[in-house]
Amino acid sequence: MATRERSMSGTIPSMETAHHALKENTVIVVLGASGDLAKKKTYPALFGLYSMGFLPKDIKIVGYARTKMDDAEYHKRITSYIKTNDDPQTQAKLEEFKALATYVSGGYEDSPSFENLNKNLETIEQGHQTPECNRMFYLALPPTVFIPVAKHLKEQCYSRHGINRIIIEKPFGKDLDSARELLNSVKQYWKEDETFRIDHYLGKEMVKNLLVLRFANVALNAGWDKNSISNVQITFKEPFGTEGRGGYFDEFGIVRDILQNHLMQVLSILTMERPVSFEAEDIRDEKVKVLRAIPPVERSDTLLGQYVAANGKPGYLDDSTVPPNSNCPTYAATTLWINNPRWEGVPFILKAGKALNEAKVEIRIQFKDVTQGIFKDISRNELVMRIQPSEAVYLKLNTKTPGLYTRAIPTEMDLTYKRRFADAKIPEAYESLILDALKGDHSNFVRDDELDVAWKIFTPILHWIDGKSGPGPKPVPYPYGSRGPKELDAFITKYGYKRSQVGYSWPITSVSNL
Ligand code: BG6
Repeated sequence: MATRERSMSGTIPSMETAHHALKENTVIVVLGASGDLAKKKTYPALFGLYSMGFLPKDIKIVGYARTKMDDAEYHKRITSYIKTNDDPQTQAKLEEFKALATYVSGGYEDSPSFENLNKNLETIEQGHQTPECNRMFYLALPPTVFIPVAKHLKEQCYSRHGINRIIIEKPFGKDLDSARELLNSVKQYWKEDETFRIDHYLGKEMVKNLLVLRFANVALNAGWDKNSISNVQITFKEPFGTEGRGGYFDEFGIVRDILQNHLMQVLSILTMERPVSFEAEDIRDEKVKVLRAIPPVERSDTLLGQYVAANGKPGYLDDSTVPPNSNCPTYAATTLWINNPRWEGVPFILKAGKALNEAKVEIRIQFKDVTQGIFKDISRNELVMRIQPSEAVYLKLNTKTPGLYTRAIPTEMDLTYKRRFADAKIPEAYESLILDALKGDHSNFVRDDELDVAWKIFTPILHWIDGKSGPGPKPVPYPYGSRGPKELDAFITKYGYKRSQVGYSWPITSVSNL
């Protein structure tokens, strides 16, 4: 195939429509530049984009935080945030990157600090070739200062000669009322099309792949409903506890930290109807529509757990930053139901836990049993989309045992990215999202109404957990490093999940042992 033809195939025109992309005359301001998020995610992502040549021409990056430090100290910190693996080319790029990064210190709640920030920005912008000045503000900040910072940025630092964008990060409130208050306060200063609310799961490669998998494959789409699907699990597992973040975590708990946002985003893309186009508002309209068909989570559809010391690791309550006797869940499984014709009666089990036996995020769709009569004890088909680690899509299928046998065994069709796309570099979620924000593409950011409806689904259960509607539940204990509460197997069985028959072996099945 000719190169031109090849590069034209498989395009998604509605995703490539023009937005107001920031291509030059742009300053990115990272507020909270000395904090954990900036260190672990924002700066590494900005550097990744810079080294791949994706940042606007002559970009300047300004760090802003309360810590008083000079540029030399700030550059030393940036060096410590970024891994170069001693590669001379990466090291050279890092030196270039530091040369375009400067630092301003100031408070988050006082106007003179922001006047000072603005003066610094104006000085930097004197170097622009044209009067255009685009500013992108990234709030890597605790939620307590979102509102004053949004206000001061608008009042003191808003560019009158270009595009302004503000990126904010969860937590967006703690329940429906507080989320609405936060949204409305920020909205007084920033328009919806200037606001980019990050849920970094939307930047993950496999989550972005869901739209293509679902809507570019007639074969998959044909069985995508209650007629074929028995149950769906969306699972998040982390092998470490709150280590050091106990204070923050205890205020939120696993339901707010993971289920209400990250797993709900995955669920909505997995279950929404086909959008009219792949433009941001068309996609988000469909996501909101399916979310609106989900009633609030029921207590009886919920299993809560908290990890306890085991295998030489401390329990949640042993973390000195956690209040004694806290009933905060570090594990939650909740089952959601979607009241629409496609999904009526299909349980969607969301599970998330800290301090478990492995690191894994996956979607597991289990299909219904084959109609009875021909086979005995045949396994169900399962379609698994592994979001991390090691992106993969595999379909568990029954196959005739090869050879002179008349039996069927479970096996799979396996698309493991590492093998199939051996030379692909999967971007970090934050790289992908910062680039989208620079392009002005909102598809992978959370819209205000999406947030509102997700909070409606979880607020009653959260109030119950918080003890706001009578005595709160006590989470069941599970050992650090285990699969989760022992009640889990019975919980998922209750919703119809059936384990594969014995005989499934991965990745190789030895026929001689059968
Ligand atoms: C964050 C949560 O949003 O996501 C953390 O606050 C969690 O508790 C993290 O560890 C998980 O992100 P990832 O990309 O490592 O799966």
